[in-house]
Formats: sequence, structure tokens, C-alpha cells
Amino acid sequence: ANPDALPRDLTGMHVVVSAGGTREPLDPVRYLGNRSSGKQGYALARVAAARGARVTLVAAHTVSLPTPAGVDLVSVSTAAQLRDAVIEVGTAADVVVMAAAVADFRPSELAQYKIKKTDGEPAPVVLERNADVLAELVRHRRPEQIIVGFAAETGDGTGDVLHHARAKLRRKGSDLLVVNAVGEGQAFEVEDNAGWLLAANGDEIQIPFGSKSQLAAAVWDAVASLHQP
Ligand code: CTP
Ligand code: CA
Repeated sequence: ANPDALPRDLTGMHVVVSAGGTREPLDPVRYLGNRSSGKQGYALARVAAARGARVTLVAAHTVSLPTPAGVDLVSVSTAAQLRDAVIEVGTAADVVVMAAAVADFRPSELAQYKIKKTDGEPAPVVLERNADVLAELVRHRRPEQIIVGFAAETGDGTGDVLHHARAKLRRKGSDLLVVNAVGEGQAFEVEDNAGWLLAANGDEIQIPFGSKSQLAAAVWDAVASLHQP
């Protein structure tokens, strides 16, 4: 697409986007991680900058991606580091988009030395909860601030993707929830996404199967329509 054709409708806004997947260390060489590529967060940052926003991108581990032009990059690794960076820059921002896959749990203990195999059974890995960054942002939200969450959902025995997503939006209390339908090769490590954009005001927009840039454009369209300067 020709970037000159994009609206400059985010001019004057400071947006913070988190991207990638956090890693929770077990010992100096091992971690618990996830499959997030970071591509959706990077697309959000790139499109926002192209539409005139000042953009801070807080990126945990991603596949190799070029830093989008004009975007301020903050690199983090663990969920705790991501939380600190997002709260620091996000508190004063106009919009925070939590596209990162943040680990829900971390190993309770970080071994100082590499864990060795022994003849007996391995010790179980004990986990504890990480802070929920999105929930913290929502708790401290300023009236004019817009908070956007992401959810990768699968249908299961208790309901379909939309059913789970509506419940998550209510639980999270964000202004928008971007829902990716996952499973069967969708969303993670792929170039195209489909899903829904659910708004706290009840609006539900279906996002057709398309590129991560197209999904990003749909998210910023929704943000721009919510934003009251
Ligand atoms: N999130 C966050 N901090 C966490 C976990 C998740 O900010 N510790 C954010 C994600 O970046 C995403 C949203 O919360 O924007 C939803 O994440 P998700 O994992 O779908 O929700 P959870 O509440 O963790 O529920 P689940 O049990 O389905 O993992
Ligand atoms: Ca989670």
C-alpha cells in the first residue's frame, strides 16, 4: 500500500504497543516461552506511525523484524520487565495496545547454575503468577485513555470463540478486545489473521481473513473513532 494514501488521523497521539512473547528463565540457559512472532505488534506500531502517531514499541522476543520507521523501541525479556516498561511509558500515553503474549506464570525459583540431570526423577517446575499488565492498565486508566487487549481463543466444549471473547472483554474491562481465532495453523507464526474487534460499548466488528497490516488498520480505525481529542 502507498503510505501517502493513509489517513494521518493519529497525529498528536502517543501510542504504546507491546509485541512478542516473554521468556521466564528457569536457569541461566533455559526458559519458559511461547510462540508469538511479534509480527502483529510490529504491524500495529508501523501502521500507527504511518498514520501520524508517536509510537513506543515495547518488544519481548520476536522473530527478526526491522524496527518500523519513526518508532521508539524498548526491548524486554521477561513478563516483569515488560510490565515495568509498559507501565512506565503507558501511564501517560493516549492509547496502549497489549499485543504481546505475556507469560501468565514464571518459575518460582531461578536456579543460579544450570540445572543438571540426575539419576532420579527430575524435580517438578513450580510456577507462580505474573502480574496482569492489561488489568493494571485498566485499573489506572485515565478517562480519555484507550486500552486495547488481544486474545487468542479457540472454541471448546463450553462455547465458541466469540462466547469466550465476550466474557474475556467483560473480565478485562479494556475498551477494545482484538480476538484472533486460533487453532489449525491460525494466528501464531502465520502471516494472516482473522477475528473480531469487540468494543466495551457492545460494537462487534468482524475482521476478515487478511494480513496483519490489515488487522492493524482495523484496530486503529476503531481507536480513532473512540478517541475524543
Ligand atoms: N496480558 C497481560 N498480562 C498478563 C497476561 C496477559 O497484560 N500477565 C494481556 C495480553 O497481552 C492480552 C490480554 O491480556 O492483551 C489477554 O491475554 P490472554 O492470555 O488472552 O488472557 P488471560 O487473562 O491471561 O486469560 P487465559 O487464561 O485465557 O490465558
Ligand atoms: Ca494468558
